[in-house]
Amino acid sequence: MSEKQTVTIAIDGPSGVGKSTISRKVAARFGFTYLDTGAMYRAVAWYIKKHRIDLDDSSAIETALEHIDIDLLPAKHETEDVGVLLNDEDVSELIRSPEMSMLASSVSAIPAVRDKLTRVQQELGRRGNIVAEGRDTGTVVFPGAEYKFYLDAQPQERSGRRARQLRARGETVDEKKLLEMTIARDKQDSERDIAPLRKADDAVVIDTTALDISQVLTVITDKISL
Ligand code: DC
Repeated sequence: MSEKQTVTIAIDGPSGVGKSTISRKVAARFGFTYLDTGAMYRAVAWYIKKHRIDLDDSSAIETALEHIDIDLLPAKHETEDVGVLLNDEDVSELIRSPEMSMLASSVSAIPAVRDKLTRVQQELGRRGNIVAEGRDTGTVVFPGAEYKFYLDAQPQERSGRRARQLRARGETVDEKKLLEMTIARDKQDSERDIAPLRKADDAVVIDTTALDISQVLTVITDKISL
């Protein structure tokens, strides 16, 4: 058995808590690769929507998974999400709508989908130092991660942040609906049977409700010694 050569920083938490922004910055600070695992679930959700596949049709899902190839590309700008190629089609923007967030959450409860994406993520983790961001990176994907963080914040604060992000992109936002979707997604992500959103026992918990990005970044980087 070969010794583990790479370092993994796992950052988990509910939607809209600021994981992506923080994870990107932590990765940039230490020169690690940023792994946005949620983008992968979103890409699968997009494929399933595009091909009108029934979420309950497990054999259609298995077949779809054989035809899905996902490539994550570095964000064009520090403030942007990673680029996503799904079978060479650029779906970077298409997967970021509130509708796709909900569908990704539903798709992520399907065992075959989790199985495939978890294996892909673990392989990426073996290839180099990464900051992995998602719901189960500290519990299931990389239980042996050297550093684990769990970010949390009140749902109102998180949906408010998402509303600002969407508005900045020129989209119209229904705040009440966004809050309802945030709460629904929390419930779905934390109550599913496989790899639910859960804090790893050895994760450092950071409540970001009253913290800005640079304060969260300081808490995290202060704990990391490489
Ligand atoms: O982080 P995100 O909002 O882009 O994730 C979209 C959905 O994907 C989320 O609601 C649940 C699912 N997901 C997951 O189940 N496990 C992960 N590690 C990351 C995301």
